[in-house]
Amino acid sequence: MRKKLLLGNWKMNKLAIEAKDFAIASRPLVDKAVLNNIDLGVAPTYLSLAAVKENAAKDMIVAAQNIHFAASGAYTGEVSIPMLKEYGISWVIIGHSERRTYDNETSEKCNQKIAALLDNNMVPVYCVGETLREFEAGKTKEVVAEALRVGLKGFRGDKLQNLVIAYEPIWSIGTGKNASAEIAESVCEFIRSVLRELFGCVAEDLRILYGGSVKPENIRTYLSCPNIDGALVGGASLKIESYEALLNNII
Ligand code: 13P
Repeated sequence: MRKKLLLGNWKMNKLAIEAKDFAIASRPLVDKAVLNNIDLGVAPTYLSLAAVKENAAKDMIVAAQNIHFAASGAYTGEVSIPMLKEYGISWVIIGHSERRTYDNETSEKCNQKIAALLDNNMVPVYCVGETLREFEAGKTKEVVAEALRVGLKGFRGDKLQNLVIAYEPIWSIGTGKNASAEIAESVCEFIRSVLRELFGCVAEDLRILYGGSVKPENIRTYLSCPNIDGALVGGASLKIESYEALLNNII
C-alpha cells in the first residue's frame, strides 16, 4: 500500500519570515496528516529551508527545489547535497519543468542529480511532463517515457525505493487548465508501466504524483485514481488555509 503524499512547491515565493509563520501554523496539520497516514511536505526556496525545518513539526517533509550533483567545487551559485544534509534536508525536487525551461535542465543533468541523491539515501522527486504542443500532437507518452529512460538511466531497481515521480503536464501548470483525472490517471498508469519495464516489481511501490492546477476542489478526484499517489501543488500550497483544505480533502 503506497502512502499518500501532499507536497507543496513554493517555487520563488515567500520571504523567510513568511515561511517561518507558515511552518508554525502547519504544526497541527502535520499531526492530522500523521494520524491519517499521509506524508505532508513543502519545498521552500533555499533561503527559507532552515526557517521551515526549525519551526515545522518534525514529521513535516521539507524539500529543496534543486541541487547540484557535485559535493563541492567551483560551481558559482550552486548548492550541494552535503549543504542540504547539514540542515537535515533529504528531499529534493528534480527536473521541474520551470527549471527545464528557464535553466536548461535536461534529463541527462537530472540523471546525475538523481544518482547523487540516491547515493546519499535521499529522496528525489523527479518531474516529467509534456508541453501543450506535444500533448496536442499525441506525444505525451513518448515524451514522458524518454524523460524516464534518460533521467533514470543506469539505476538498479533495488536502489530506487526512495524515488518519487511527479507527472506535471506543462500546459496545466499555473494555468488553471488542469488535466482531467482520466488523462492524469492514464499517464500515471503508463509511467508505472515504464518503471516496471525498467526496474521490475519495485514499480508497484513507487509513488507517482500528479501536479498542475491542483486545488482543494479537485484534489480528491486525482487521489482517488489507482495510480496517483499524491499531488505536487504550486499556487494552492502557498496559503495555509488552502494547504489545510488540500489536506482535509484527501483524508
Ligand atoms: P500549480 O499548482 O500552481 O499549477 O503548479 C504546479 C507545479 O508546478 C508544482 O510543482
